[in-house]
Amino acid sequence: MVPDIGFIGAGKVGEALASKLSEKGYEVVAVASRSFSSAERLAANISSCRPYSTPQEVADVATLVFITTPDDAVSSVQEGIDWHPGQWVVHTSGALPVSVLERARSRGGLTGGFHPLQTFADATGESLSGSTFALEGEDPLLSSLKEIALALGGSYVVVSSEDRALYHISGVLASNYVVTLMGLADEIWRRLGLSASGVDSLLPLMRGTVENLARIGLPDALTGPIARGDAGTIQKHLQALKVRMPELTSIYSELGLNTIPISLEKGVIDEAKAQELEKILGG
Ligand SMILES: NC(=O)c1ccc[n+]([C@@H]2O[C@H](COP(=O)([O-])OP(=O)(O)OC[C@H]3O[C@@H](n4cnc5c(N)ncnc54)[C@H](OP(=O)(O)O)[C@@H]3O)[C@@H](O)[C@H]2O)c1
Repeated sequence: MVPDIGFIGAGKVGEALASKLSEKGYEVVAVASRSFSSAERLAANISSCRPYSTPQEVADVATLVFITTPDDAVSSVQEGIDWHPGQWVVHTSGALPVSVLERARSRGGLTGGFHPLQTFADATGESLSGSTFALEGEDPLLSSLKEIALALGGSYVVVSSEDRALYHISGVLASNYVVTLMGLADEIWRRLGLSASGVDSLLPLMRGTVENLARIGLPDALTGPIARGDAGTIQKHLQALKVRMPELTSIYSELGLNTIPISLEKGVIDEAKAQELEKILGG
């Protein structure tokens, strides 16, 4: 049984979650944000939801409160509220432990984490379906969070506070740093003067890789010189970097070294080849 829901923080995640939860039949009744206009914008699309000017008012009318502010504001926001006994307070950060909600817990509330393993560049909640949610909390709150994750069309894992930072790194590697890698690949295109941006040309390659990962998974999706054991090609790459873009040598080598175990697991290179590649890459 999920009680009335409120949101503090009317940004991308708050808006996406509030609108999808309402669509799924949950009672989203209250929202407050730093600015009243953000709260009004979120509430405008949800008939049951009223905008409030302070987080305290949300805590006064909703039993389950999602704090969807930036990570750095979660602790101070919950510190400023007189929580009620029996209240459920949840943040949506991937990295923060549940102990940041200590004041709510000490007032007799249940506290938890509900992190959508998804990227929200805007506030549409379409990508929530199919996402995995990292949950933390005690029952009955945890059971309700599980129910919500499933109702949103997702699945869930339970991640302890101790493991949360490491769990979050997995998401950073699979999302944010993919953008970083595209940034570096694009830098080479611009340096060579091939076009104003390489993103359009590199994107079909990136999409193909992601689709291979979805279709055949790890380690089979790996292709390229390390999977082929092409030591000569890797030497040419390193030589080109040394002469023209030495600043990329260390990340290229580090990623290459981390690609060797995947190639071994795929069974496309043997131990002797792995050692040869490691030596070339400076491992
Ligand atoms: N974006 C993602 O891809 C993503 C994915 C998973 C989890 N998360 C997590 O979800 C949470 C929210 O992220 P987001 O991307 O939705 O952030 P966001 O778009 O920047 O929105 C944060 C909202 O919080 C409001 N806010 C800021 N300080 C506040 C305060 N002191 N009191 C009340 N409201 C305050 C802001 O208000 P105003 O608009 O009123 O100024 C803003 O609307 C974070 O914990 C983040 O780690 C994000």
